[in-house]
Order: sequence, then structure tokens, then C-alpha cells
Amino acid sequence: MIEVSPSASVPAGLPAGNPVTATLFHSDQGGHEQVLLCQDRPSGLKAVIALHSTALGPALGGTRFHAYAASADPEQSAVLDALNLARGMSYKNALAGLDHGGGKAVIIGDPEQLKSEALLRAYGRFVASLGGRYVTACDVGTYVQDMDVVAQECRWTTGRSPENGGAGDSSVLTAFGVFQGMRASAQHLWGAPTLRGRLVGVAGVGKVGKHLVDHLLQDGARVVVTDVREESVRAVLAAHPGAPLTAVADTWTLLRTEGLDLYAPCALGGALDDETVAALTARIVCGAANNQLAHPGVEKDLADQGILYAPDYVVNAGGVIQVADEFNGFDFTRAKAKAAQILDTTTSIFERAAADGVPPAAAADRLAEQRMGL
Ligand SMILES: NC(=O)c1ccc[n+]([C@@H]2O[C@H](COP(=O)([O-])OP(=O)(O)OC[C@H]3O[C@@H](n4cnc5c(N)ncnc54)[C@H](O)[C@@H]3O)[C@@H](O)[C@H]2O)c1
Repeated sequence: MIEVSPSASVPAGLPAGNPVTATLFHSDQGGHEQVLLCQDRPSGLKAVIALHSTALGPALGGTRFHAYAASADPEQSAVLDALNLARGMSYKNALAGLDHGGGKAVIIGDPEQLKSEALLRAYGRFVASLGGRYVTACDVGTYVQDMDVVAQECRWTTGRSPENGGAGDSSVLTAFGVFQGMRASAQHLWGAPTLRGRLVGVAGVGKVGKHLVDHLLQDGARVVVTDVREESVRAVLAAHPGAPLTAVADTWTLLRTEGLDLYAPCALGGALDDETVAALTARIVCGAANNQLAHPGVEKDLADQGILYAPDYVVNAGGVIQVADEFNGFDFTRAKAKAAQILDTTTSIFERAAADGVPPAAAADRLAEQRMGL
């Protein structure tokens, strides 16, 4: 679950100068409301909590625990990452129909070396100090057990274990939501909300990808999978003996599979770059991975090639819908019903895109901005 981190330079289109303040005060998505830099020397905690917007309600987004070791200035990279991720959560939460704004936190350091109960509790006290303006959850490097510890200090914690009143593993409804996005795409392109008889390629059969394969096979699709971890591929194949399910060596082979109808990136960010788009034969891209578009303009290249792209943050919102439900005392049926609405949301984005003559990714941004009043 590693996504592309921003470089420590001023993002395109922003005034020259300090990249943090440029992103914070001048970004064209309306800037950010607040950033909290936190330190607890005894436990070694250094963290950034970024709130992009609370216009729709308390900012909701996960806690990333990452070292930023490849960066010349890890702390600045961490702040920029938190700012960008928080903005992304505003858009995701707005289109998921949640009464939540967008926020994200980053704990700086290698979780393998630094994570401790003292550090997580110190972090929880900083989240609590925001008095409910920010609600946290899991992200890359943090897990359900970690949120149970954070929750000991802070009531604004989701993503906890079911034993502690939480929703548990969010990949279940993430996969369900992506499948709804696929159904909406199939309806839009082929006239029926089903993948029956279609060939679907899933790149990455981790927590989300493996559940997605279940939904696809149940719907009557044929599926081809790939993963860099051989044991993940073996587990998926073993779970579906006799099913129309095959595996290929890598994503390049998957992309070129003859007759591929739909490509589902479910591994890393940046899956859709110039090379991939040029090689794509599938007519639909719809997957769970965050930040699939490697750079601005890819969404237009996809549209120009006649490929329907279901925007990542719209179709992968099932997980945040799941954790948001914890506030009302988690109810799986209610959360699943809300995640099912991803079908209608994706459909309305395709309709808006067609009406406005813009790619679906641009239509999604416009709809989210409308709801946020930006
Ligand atoms: N888990 C959630 O609820 C959730 C919610 C929203 C978005 N997402 C996004 O969905 C994606 C998958 O999340 P996950 O929770 O399943 O993560 P995961 O780590 O469980 O699974 C990712 C899988 O991708 C594989 N992989 C990595 N590099 C690959 C490559 N180059 N080619 C093929 N496979 C590769 C990994 O081996 C792993 O099995 C991530 O981008 C994540 O940010 C997840």
C-alpha cells in the first residue's frame, strides 16, 4: 500500500518559494485549514496532522507511518505528503456522501523500528487535542491493533478491532465498492450492470484484490490475476478451484492478455502512466489503488483512446464509508448499503463527464467541489 509521495519541490501551478506554504495557502483546491506539527521526545514521535477541510464535518482520514527515507528532507516530504493526502480525502469523502471533511496524518519514521505503545498513545493525545476536528483511521504502516492503542487516548479514532467496537478490516467494503464502480462502468459502456462473460485483469491480489476476485467470479466474469508475491497468487487460485481464473507473471503480461475487457489496478499508485495507457487494450479501467493517474493529463489520454476510467477515489471509497460508520456503532449492513451507492455516484460522474465533454476524473472533481462549496 505504498503510494507515490510528492517530491519536495513546489507543485506545478503554485507560486515559487517554500513548497509547504505554497501548498498550504495557495493550492487551487482552496488551501488547507490547519496543520499540526507534533513532537513527543520521550517516545520519538514526530507527526504531521493536516486538515484540508471541515466544511462537511470533522476531517476524516488515516494515519500513515512512513520513513520518507529516500527524500533529502524527510520532514518536508512528510508535511507535503500529509497536505496532499488530506486534500484527496476531502474529495473522496465528499463524493462518498459522508458528512466528513478531509484530513490525514503522517508519523515520520520506520514503523518497524519506532512503533511503540508510548508513541501511539502520545500521537492519540495530539489527535484528541483537536477536539474532534480530525478523526483518524488506519493507512499505510498502521493497523487495526494500532488504532486500538490510539483509541485509549482519543475518542476520535476509527479503524479499531471489532472487539473494541470497530469496523475491522476495511478492505471488505473497499472491494465491494470497486465492484459497484465496475458494474456502473459496464452499464455505461455495454448497457448492462454486470461483468458476466467479460475478461477482467486484477493487478495486485492483496487485501482488496482478493475480495474483488470473489465478487467478479460470483458475477460470472472470467478473471486473470497477477501479483509480485507468489503466495498471494497461490492463495487466490486455491480459494477458487475450477473457476475461470488464471494467473500471469506480471502486470505487463496482464495488460496484453488477449480479449481483456477491464483492467483493475489494485496494487500501487501511479499505475496509469504513458506506457501503460499506450499498451492498454481493455476498454475500462476501474480498480482500488489510490492515485492511479501518474501525472496530470493521463485522464485525457485515456479518454482520447476511448478507454472509460472510473476515478480511483470514487470507486475505492468503501473503506472510508466502513470506518465512518463506526461513529454510529458499527453496523455492517448499513455501511454496505452506503457503499452500494458507489454504483449511482459513478454513473452520475460518467453522465456529467459526457454532458460537459470532460474526462470522468475532471467531472468527479467538479462534483466534489460543488458539494464542498469550493
Ligand atoms: N485496504 C483498503 O481498504 C483500501 C482502501 C482504499 C484504497 N486502497 C488502495 O488499494 C490498493 C491495494 O490495497 P490493499 O489494502 O489490498 O493492499 P495490500 O498491500 O494488501 O495489497 C497490494 C498487493 O499488491 C501487490 N503488488 C505490489 N506491487 C505490485 C506490482 N508491481 N504488480 C503486481 N502486484 C503488486 C502486493 O504484493 C500486494 O499483494 C492500494 O493502493 C491502497 O492504497 C485500499
